[in-house]
Amino acid sequence: MKILITGGAGCLGSNLIEHWLPDGHELFVIDNFVTGKPDLLSGLRGLSLCEGTIADAKLVKQCFADFRPEVVVHAAASYKDPDDWEEDNATNILGSINVARAALEFKSRRIINLQTALCFGRAQETPVSNDHPLAPFSSYGITKTAGEQFMLLSQVPLLSLRIANVTGPRLSIGPIPTFYKRLKAGQRCFCSDTARDFLDMSDFLSFMDLAIAASENKTGVFNIATGKAHTIKEVYELVARHLGLEPGEVRIVPAAADDVPVLALDPEQTEQVFGWKAAIDFEETISRQLSWYDEHGVSEVYSHLKKVESA
Ligand SMILES: NC(=O)c1ccc[n+]([C@@H]2O[C@H](COP(=O)([O-])OP(=O)(O)OC[C@H]3O[C@@H](n4cnc5c(N)ncnc54)[C@H](O)[C@@H]3O)[C@@H](O)[C@H]2O)c1
Repeated sequence: MKILITGGAGCLGSNLIEHWLPDGHELFVIDNFVTGKPDLLSGLRGLSLCEGTIADAKLVKQCFADFRPEVVVHAAASYKDPDDWEEDNATNILGSINVARAALEFKSRRIINLQTALCFGRAQETPVSNDHPLAPFSSYGITKTAGEQFMLLSQVPLLSLRIANVTGPRLSIGPIPTFYKRLKAGQRCFCSDTARDFLDMSDFLSFMDLAIAASENKTGVFNIATGKAHTIKEVYELVARHLGLEPGEVRIVPAAADDVPVLALDPEQTEQVFGWKAAIDFEETISRQLSWYDEHGVSEVYSHLKKVESA
């Protein structure tokens, strides 16, 4: 299958590439390497690469004209500076519009859009059902939601996935790499008083296999998650124990103004429509992530939240 992946040099994109290339899929990546790493993609047979931004409509159109993708995985996203609304706007809104228009013009069979659970904002329920109202409040959440809504408006065949916190190779965002890096360096940590739904990469990839092969009628928005929230303190304790440390007392701080206290997504509808269910439990998910860091280390850690002092 010919699959175009925007943001293919990022965490989820590069895991999809490693997963799909051995199956013989033909892949094409557009990435500007803002958070993705070019070296991950160099010299791979079956993969073509265009370095550039999806905010450039002409460039996106040219890539689609050259490659003619059957399926598009839209993974490119801007989030690393929460105050850079212009860049979030350019990538997450305009970029998504450009991808939707090109997919329509060149008759791609479907777009699979990777959406953040922050589209739900401070949700009124746990776990959050598929049809919960959207109420994003950060630059990342607002622009990703607007991008998704324009894609839906465009009438392009769209599967938009509201995804839990995926863990796996090259994860460089959130509490797991932060705790691992700080505890290894002998630095103190604090835990925000929040809870999240952690999904193992293998579960994400098994869903994506179903998504690219799904029949025409399987479009719309779906939660890809375990449905269970675990506190950041639980994560901290698992990381400490993995490193042979006694977790002891850790400072708990209230959720930051731009953060969401509890976020878990109800996967029931996804389970019914796709026959998919997350298979890896929380402890095993975190353990796999930490074993990966043991072998490969932690790179630079990004966040879509404003910086908070840890002292
Ligand atoms: N990782 C998760 O747990 C998770 C959860 C929910 C949703 N998502 C969504 O999945 C997608 C991928 O997330 P990720 O964790 O792999 O992030 P990532 O930062 O690792 O990957 C994003 C990629 O997009 C590229 N990019 C940014 N702006 C671009 C632009 N203007 N043009 C082209 N490429 C651009 C980056 O260089 C990077 O390679 C994002 O859309 C994100 O919102 C991720």
